[in-house]
Amino acid sequence: MSVFKLLCCLLLTYQLSEGIKTKGSRAVVTEQGRVPLVNQPYVSSTAFRLFLEGEDTCTLDPLQLHTLPSCGFNGSNPLIIITHGWSVDGKRESWILSLATALKKTLIDVNVVVTDWLSLAHQHYPTAVQNTRTVGKDIARLLQSLKEQYQYPVRKVHLIGYSLGAHISGFAGSFLQGPEKIGRITGLDPAGPLFEGMSPTDRLSPDDAEFVDAIHTFTHERMGLSVGIKQAVAHYDFYPNGGDFQPGCNLHNIYEHITEYGLFGFEQTVKCAHERSVHLFIDSLLNKDKQSMAYRCGDSKAFDKGLCLDCRRNRCNTLGYYIKKVPMSRSKMLFLKTRPRMPYKLHHYQFRIQFINQMEQIEPFLTISLNGTKEESGNHGISFTENISGNKTYTFLITQDRDLGDLMMLKLRWEDPALWKNVWNKVQTIIPWGSRRRKPRLTVGKISVKTGETQARTYFCAMMNDGQEVEVSQDKVFVRCDEDKPRQRRRKHN
Ligand SMILES: *[C@@H]1O[C@H](CO)[C@@H](O)[C@H](O)[C@H]1NC(C)=O
Ligand SMILES: *[C@@H]1O[C@H](CO)[C@@H](O)[C@H](O)[C@H]1NC(C)=O
Ligand SMILES: *[C@@H]1O[C@H](CO)[C@@H](O)[C@H](O)[C@H]1NC(C)=O
Ligand SMILES: *[C@@H]1O[C@H](CO)[C@@H](O)[C@H](O)[C@H]1NC(C)=O
Repeated sequence: MSVFKLLCCLLLTYQLSEGIKTKGSRAVVTEQGRVPLVNQPYVSSTAFRLFLEGEDTCTLDPLQLHTLPSCGFNGSNPLIIITHGWSVDGKRESWILSLATALKKTLIDVNVVVTDWLSLAHQHYPTAVQNTRTVGKDIARLLQSLKEQYQYPVRKVHLIGYSLGAHISGFAGSFLQGPEKIGRITGLDPAGPLFEGMSPTDRLSPDDAEFVDAIHTFTHERMGLSVGIKQAVAHYDFYPNGGDFQPGCNLHNIYEHITEYGLFGFEQTVKCAHERSVHLFIDSLLNKDKQSMAYRCGDSKAFDKGLCLDCRRNRCNTLGYYIKKVPMSRSKMLFLKTRPRMPYKLHHYQFRIQFINQMEQIEPFLTISLNGTKEESGNHGISFTENISGNKTYTFLITQDRDLGDLMMLKLRWEDPALWKNVWNKVQTIIPWGSRRRKPRLTVGKISVKTGETQARTYFCAMMNDGQEVEVSQDKVFVRCDEDKPRQRRRKHN
């Protein structure tokens, strides 16, 4: 039932989004949203709990900050505040404990506070959205008190917000008075409905902290709405697997899920992809030796073609807690592929192949495998979206669970697609070629593979000296070559 409510709410919300005046100009916001002075009465609608160990927490009273030392707050350590999102059932979600535990266990010298705004979040979605400013104000108020009473600098604060919590963290940053900004805000799949397309003052934006990063994991659009926000809202915006669909979440089976499990299936699918942002962040803490690298790209289509594995001038960055905090004037959209399970890291390889003197139009299906000093890749099927003709270079993205090491050998096989074979056989039947029967040929020019994680590019040359011709259903082996010859290649795409 609650899931049905979720669906209805989202739909309703979207239709209302034009009409509801949750917006308000910046001037209005600063007038009404000003954090009251200390001597004015202030009632916090939000509970803040200092996370200690296991399930142990200690409630902080933003008005009575003498609770801080007795709770075990250590003023010399950074402060991380976790803020949850909209609540369908009014219950605390399990990821909060996982994230708080991962932060405390791996960072140790850190204060972790969990924001509890469940009563305001367990409402119709548009109401919960309106409450986000109130909660943002409460957080700003807490930080203000910490600064005034404990000289605790706000730049040592890192807000981590999930879904609506991401925008709450943004509002906290904008409600804060004084020149000093919050150190960092991380938005984990910031909510989309009623925030998409809004002005920077009405959502999470790069202005809200010294450094803002966001991970977008469920921006799949259905009936004109997406649960997570699609637009860039941070200095670095990460779009794992394109940001709309996450492997292991079976979004493509959403309708089958509903038929099989009822709306529970829908909830699981939504929760899986939306919450993946949280688990990617947790992964960055728990698997420090397996940090996922993401690359700047115009869109996921270009990324899938392997065009974007470049790290020059901060074009790549690490996803999660250990991100390189380079201040940016503009948002950067970064892409990466992940595994369906933790550890999520994948290694990215950009494969470039040049075909020369291709006379007839062909639709090849290639299988390639790479052999490196550490691992073998196994076979990767590559299907071309366009026909091959003339002298042209094609690029693809190949991902691997494990680091292959230095690439030594590449095997290429031109598969014989059944469909094409049938056509070929038919042609042969109709037109008897006789002894002058011509087999289709594919001539390969330069081949290279770039490893995103190391930025190394490896060139390959034919092993046999029978040219670089590839025939249908035959393995062709190429070995690493460091000759200067291949360097004359065009260097258009990095
Ligand atoms: C606070 O944390 C620091 C480490 O960052 C530690 O050296 C110090 O003893 C802690 N203070 C208290 C009161 O626990
Ligand atoms: C590719 O070439 C074949 C003929 O070999 C043609 O039937 C097909 O329409 C072409 N496809 C594209 C996408 O151009
Ligand atoms: C891959 O390379 C290793 C040595 O690096 C070698 O032992 C192995 O046989 C190679 N595999 C293939 C399929 O050629
Ligand atoms: C392809 O390039 C070769 C030289 O590398 C040239 O001789 C040939 O005419 C070109 N073919 C086409 C179809 O452009």
